[in-house]
Amino acid sequence: MCDNTYIEKACAQFRTLLLEQLERTARMEAGGAPKDFTTMEKITIGMVGGDGIGPIIMEQAERLLRKVMEEEISTGRIVLKKIEGLTIENRLALGKAVPDDVLAQIKSCDVLLKGPTTTPKGGTLESANVTLRRELDLYANVRPVQVPEEGIDWIFYRENTEGEYVLGSRGVEVPGKLSMDFKVTTELGTRRIAKAAFDYAKANGKKSVSIVTKANIMKKTDGNFTRICHEVAADYPGIEADDWYIDIMTANLVNKEIRNQFQVFVLPNLYGDIITDEAAEIQGGVGTAGSANMGDQYAMFEAIHGSAPRMIEEGLADYANPSSIFKATEMLIRHIGFTEKADRLAAVLEDCNEKEKQVVVTGTASGATCREFADYVMRKL
Ligand code: IPM
Ligand code: MG
Repeated sequence: MCDNTYIEKACAQFRTLLLEQLERTARMEAGGAPKDFTTMEKITIGMVGGDGIGPIIMEQAERLLRKVMEEEISTGRIVLKKIEGLTIENRLALGKAVPDDVLAQIKSCDVLLKGPTTTPKGGTLESANVTLRRELDLYANVRPVQVPEEGIDWIFYRENTEGEYVLGSRGVEVPGKLSMDFKVTTELGTRRIAKAAFDYAKANGKKSVSIVTKANIMKKTDGNFTRICHEVAADYPGIEADDWYIDIMTANLVNKEIRNQFQVFVLPNLYGDIITDEAAEIQGGVGTAGSANMGDQYAMFEAIHGSAPRMIEEGLADYANPSSIFKATEMLIRHIGFTEKADRLAAVLEDCNEKEKQVVVTGTASGATCREFADYVMRKL
């Protein structure tokens, strides 16, 4: 094909993308009232194993969940549903990021606990995470990070359905010459993540929300993101909204003099992805932080880290750290309304990971196994 043909194709594709994104905002506008778990007779939790170390950490997460929610599971108020088929082998064979039958099963649940899924580099197969976040409209990625001895208590509200992610597998190319991806920010999509961050701040007595973008460079998308966040902030008197660029904020997080002053962060998808790994590392490693993907109808809880194919190759899978998926389990329990149980689990996890530390997972054969750590946590419950 000559360059012109690529240009024509790209222009046509751009039009399609634009219309699709406008349709998405129309669906957002029409979205129903948020689900209220406290009044539901039955809550179905979908358990998705994932790839690599996923099934190993999920096996322990399931044991933990069954123990903490023993009573509700025995009365049938909570039902655990195992969902098979979200594996990289199956997804590659079918050429689908989330196979249709798997998606249908997932949609029949209320909340999900999910192990990490492998995302191939290049190619056209979209990340299963990105697909699920879009299909279930999980617009808020909420990631808490705490370092109690330093007074760090951060919570990140990462926009989860837009930015670089939404069209990340649908860029255009003039082969050998250039490639172009698209970044999308919508008015409604930004308003709802900003509202989620400020609502959290208000409900938890926080005094500031830091808006983090690169609006000096990405003037349309990040520029509008910042503007909308400030508009939302106007409805929350007493909570200060401060503006930062992502580059200096990544520096701030390693600056021990000032970092414990930050409280709540709201940021577009990709910056949120990157900075939450940095933050998790400050807490003790990406193996330690949990991640909640929240929407109005569904919520998905997962480990912040990936499927760790290297650990599998090196035969170290049994030594994978389940702390991140345990934290996600705690967030799930809290989300469906069992605050006391979640608090209890949080205290035990903090004790095991930060204070007592009798069983330590290092990710190597000299440390404890995933199962040994789970046994330790469950003994302390
Ligand atoms: C995360 C992960 C995902 C992301 C990957 C697995 C697609 O890094 O949840 O932070 O980039 O969002
Ligand atoms: Mg990430």
